[in-house]
Amino acid sequence: MLVAQSDCLTCHKVDEKLVGPPYRDVANKYENTEANVKLLAEKIVKGGTGVWGQVAMTPHPTVTPENAEKMVKYILLLKNK
Ligand code: HEC
Repeated sequence: MLVAQSDCLTCHKVDEKLVGPPYRDVANKYENTEANVKLLAEKIVKGGTGVWGQVAMTPHPTVTPENAEKMVKYILLLKNK
């Protein structure tokens, strides 16, 4: 599983807030559209801040855009409403 192979889980859990928002909250916030997948994949690669608070997500330049999109698609499937 890609998310487990990277450092994502040091900052994210599915249901609990850690350094970053819980993946379930991310899934509930964004509709599973092509545009959102691209937007979030880019954010994983480049890093970013300001959507969930003032803490920044570190950039992940070694994650390819294809793999970042796969990670986003996995995360968005956790939606529960
Ligand atoms: C250093 C801690 C850290 C690591 C490592 C990290 N994240 Fe994050 N992540 C964050 C923080 C903090 C935010 C909230 C950023 C914001 O408010 O804009 C976030 C936000 C996100 C978002 C939502 C972005 C948005 O704009 O709503 C996604 C999706 C995400 N992370 C996925 C990942 C994935 C996949 C990985 C592994 C490749 C990862 N994160 C690794 C801290 C981290």
